[in-house]
Amino acid sequence: MPVYCITGTNRGLGLEFVRQLAQSPDNTIIAATRSLSSDLSDLKAVASPSTHILECDTSNVASIHAFVKEVKQTLGDEKKIDFLLNSAGVNVASSQSSLSLGPDELQQNIAVNVIGPAKMVELLLDAGLLSKDVRILNMTSGLGSLQRSSEIKPRKCAPYSISKAGLNMLTVHQSEDLKPHLPGSVVICMDPGWVKTRMGGDGAVLEASQSIGDMLKVLHGLKAEDTGSFYHHTGEKIPW
Ligand SMILES: NC(=O)c1ccc[n+]([C@@H]2O[C@H](COP(=O)([O-])OP(=O)(O)OC[C@H]3O[C@@H](n4cnc5c(N)ncnc54)[C@H](OP(=O)(O)O)[C@@H]3O)[C@@H](O)[C@H]2O)c1
Repeated sequence: MPVYCITGTNRGLGLEFVRQLAQSPDNTIIAATRSLSSDLSDLKAVASPSTHILECDTSNVASIHAFVKEVKQTLGDEKKIDFLLNSAGVNVASSQSSLSLGPDELQQNIAVNVIGPAKMVELLLDAGLLSKDVRILNMTSGLGSLQRSSEIKPRKCAPYSISKAGLNMLTVHQSEDLKPHLPGSVVICMDPGWVKTRMGGDGAVLEASQSIGDMLKVLHGLKAEDTGSFYHHTGEKIPW
């Protein structure tokens, strides 16, 4: 009876994770969404009886604290999170380059794309809510790869790209830092490909169903030695 905890589930890739995972009645799903006041009709339409919709603004540490308390109440003393999928993300000020970076816009990207996944892991660990073999997926981007970005001319989405490189480095740190606490834990970052969502746009090449189906296969096949790796949704490793 695995427990999945997913952020950013009201739309896009987070929603598709819930849709696919909710098809198995064995899965307990914590579906986090930035605001319970948003339109959650798509999420409610795919939720199973064992899907719990909870509020979590991942850019706000107080909101993550409150969320962790709610998760504890929801799961009780026995259940722990087996899969944490940090999917919530933003691409603010995509037209800015390294020569026009806005400090506020860079900070907004870092708040959601880096600090959110960091605090989520830290606070769930502190609350004893991560299983000893937890699998943690930090949803990154090919634009977070230094090597890939150095091949793109002209460069793209500087504030986002810089924040996703930060998320990749966070993954490298988390994978080692968690070991003394949870020796069987595996932390990876994954590029979902270019997917048709609000962020990816209509010109994207992949359907969300394909990308998420691929990612779940990779996630379910992870072994201890895979911790700290950077994957494409296909399962191929991506150069840092
Ligand atoms: N689509 C692609 O082609 C692509 C490519 C590479 C990487 N990615 C990554 O994949 C992840 C999912 O992207 P997507 O395509 O599903 O994007 P999306 O369609 O724009 O959806 C983004 C999701 O993140 C949520 N979110 C944003 N800020 C949040 C916050 N402060 N707290 C909680 N949730 C927040 C949004 O909630 P609201 O509706 O409340 O704003 C929404 O549910 C992101 O990390 C993105 O960087 C996507």
